[in-house]
Amino acid sequence: MTDVMNTPSDAMPEPFDASIVAVADHTEAAPVPFNVTVRVRRFDPDVDKEPFWQDFTVEAYSTDRVLDALHKIKWDQDGTLAFRRSCAHGVCGSDAMRINGRNRLACKTLMKDLDIKAPITVEAIKGLPLEKDLIVDMEPFFTAYREVMPFMVAGGHEPSRERLQSQEDRARFDDSTKCILCAACTTSCPVFWTDGQYFGPAAIVGAHRFIFDSRDDASTQRLEILNSKEGVWRCRTTFNCTEACPRGIQITQAIAEVKQALIRGRI
Ligand code: SF4
Ligand code: FES
Repeated sequence: MTDVMNTPSDAMPEPFDASIVAVADHTEAAPVPFNVTVRVRRFDPDVDKEPFWQDFTVEAYSTDRVLDALHKIKWDQDGTLAFRRSCAHGVCGSDAMRINGRNRLACKTLMKDLDIKAPITVEAIKGLPLEKDLIVDMEPFFTAYREVMPFMVAGGHEPSRERLQSQEDRARFDDSTKCILCAACTTSCPVFWTDGQYFGPAAIVGAHRFIFDSRDDASTQRLEILNSKEGVWRCRTTFNCTEACPRGIQITQAIAEVKQALIRGRI
């Protein structure tokens, strides 16, 4: 009689007992939608004498942005709703609006960070002429920006190689290079609301970017422009601009640095 040794592969499998088998569950709980009221300040210059509030009920998820809710309104409920947006990712600066009374980018404002039990108010940024719904005329904003010469002015002969700069010199204006010209700062400034002549924080940030650039030759000219009655001395240091900036730029500090450069007469 031949003894037969059972190898592991020959062994009869044990009956399957599901209770002792741990199965990794990689599925996440499905996000739960909810209804939220979005209260939009509407205005159509062809029919309305005054802006008015209109409520929309939108199904949303906590990870949705306010921009998603506006898209749902426009695409599913009222195609006449007018607002600007382009990149939808906090880069182009076109969708600054006043959300729950604060200037923000609609594409960077998540539902989970808002009180969804109350209506979410959305209106156009203040201090610029209202064109339609959430759209304002940005021309006064860009006019002020252009006036501070937001471009490099480098004199002398055209160099045969790149204009070098130390890391320390670059660091002096690094923060102000981050501006995306959304106007959230300027249109949250009470001085700008009451006096449209003020250049506003965004233009000063744009000037700061070049004033403190060691390769630039027009800092004196820019400082003269900002020393005018529309310039930095109008700033009342309310910090509204710094709080509104979606890029986290220390705008009030940049304005203070420009003021100091004017007082000291050097950069
Ligand atoms: S400084 Fe900030 S808030 Fe002002 S325009 Fe630039 S990115 Fe927008
Ligand atoms: S859509 Fe471009 S910054 Fe929001």
